Amino acid sequence: MAITPPQNRLWWKEPLSGVEITWIGVAFIWGLVMFGTMVSWHFVGKQNLSNETYRIDPNAFGEKVEAMTERYQVREEGDTGVPVVRPPPGSDIYMLSRLWEWWPVLELEKDQTYRLHLSSMDWQHGFSLQPQNINVQVHPGYDMVLTITPDKSGEYAVVCNEFCGIGHHTMVGKIHVVDKK
Ligand code: CUA
Repeated sequence: MAITPPQNRLWWKEPLSGVEITWIGVAFIWGLVMFGTMVSWHFVGKQNLSNETYRIDPNAFGEKVEAMTERYQVREEGDTGVPVVRPPPGSDIYMLSRLWEWWPVLELEKDQTYRLHLSSMDWQHGFSLQPQNINVQVHPGYDMVLTITPDKSGEYAVVCNEFCGIGHHTMVGKIHVVDKK
């Protein structure tokens, strides 16, 4: 019993009791089960995203986002006039996070596949796509790439779910999924 100091100061050299070794065995096997579940759930449960990550300089990422926005902007929306960008299906598309916005708004076609790149211009933000409940941590210096095929049209909210300061609760973005024109 560990409430009082051990009788023998070299307690770790005493032989293991049967109960102790049983619990170590149980914990070890449970650890293996959890590890196996984590791996198999990726395939069976479609729980984890198959994403890729690359290193990228925040400014270089910003330039790619600007270039896409300049090329494919279709309109502006909201009080702040945030650009709505409609890139061609199958292309690489970008969304950047910074204090405190997700930028720009994307307009995607239903049943088309895109490579969505996410990164941060300043510090850690979260990409939480609602109501789909897809969650990705986003860091400056890293380009997180998700291959996505939206299968339902509608308006999706992007919510920052990593606390990032005073404006955290206002940090939202938007993705429109539309039927092919
Ligand atoms: Cu960005 Cu919280």
